[in-house]
Amino acid sequence: MAETILVPRMLDAYHQFLEERVKPGAIAIDGTAGNGYDTVFLANLVGETGHVWAFDIQQAAIDATKSRVQAAGFEKRVTLCLQSHSEMISVIPSHLAGSVSGIVFNLGYLPGSDKKVTTLVPTSLEAIRQSLLLLSQDGILTVAIYPGHQEGTMEGNALIDQIPTLEAAGLLIRIFKVPEPKSPAPYLITYERKKNEKR
Ligand SMILES: C[S@@+](CC[C@H](N)C(=O)[O-])C[C@H]1O[C@@H](n2cnc3c(N)ncnc32)[C@H](O)[C@@H]1O
Repeated sequence: MAETILVPRMLDAYHQFLEERVKPGAIAIDGTAGNGYDTVFLANLVGETGHVWAFDIQQAAIDATKSRVQAAGFEKRVTLCLQSHSEMISVIPSHLAGSVSGIVFNLGYLPGSDKKVTTLVPTSLEAIRQSLLLLSQDGILTVAIYPGHQEGTMEGNALIDQIPTLEAAGLLIRIFKVPEPKSPAPYLITYERKKNEKR
């Protein structure tokens, strides 16, 4: 079963993993653009010669991300998609399959908006399945899960349930948690390829 590792801050942990893997010229995906913080973080890492695709189903999220990307001067290196992440495989050019260095999901709802629009188990699972097809040999997929709401609890359970199957197929999966949380705290699942993984 996936190793569970305690970290002081989840945000620092996944940013560090992305910094290690996403280098100038790389391709990256933000599966949940939201307010654009992760999109800009990735766009900074890929540099002028790389590219980031960012997905969100809410116009407000795409608008917020666009403003943040423009403010950073990163328009040319980011493609914003008002589309579900469960359709990413049809959007990302097919020649990039197996070449994506960093993929980020921050599941849940857009902070400060209608909490009814949230990521859902079936589409999240499908998006993660597609992400694993796109991920490069040295890449990393990070999924932040928020069990403080019902759908977040269900997403976390569904992702944990499929870990044994994915590990059997050769993926290295780790879970990162903060120590002694006071309430259901967010946690992170990371997915990487092991050598000789079956695809
Ligand atoms: C927690 S927020 C993401 C925060 C974001 N990473 C940031 O840096 O601000 C989750 C986002 O997922 C979006 N979302 C929900 N279902 C989605 C789907 N099927 N495809 C893409 N985005 C989705 C929501 O609209 C919301 O903006």
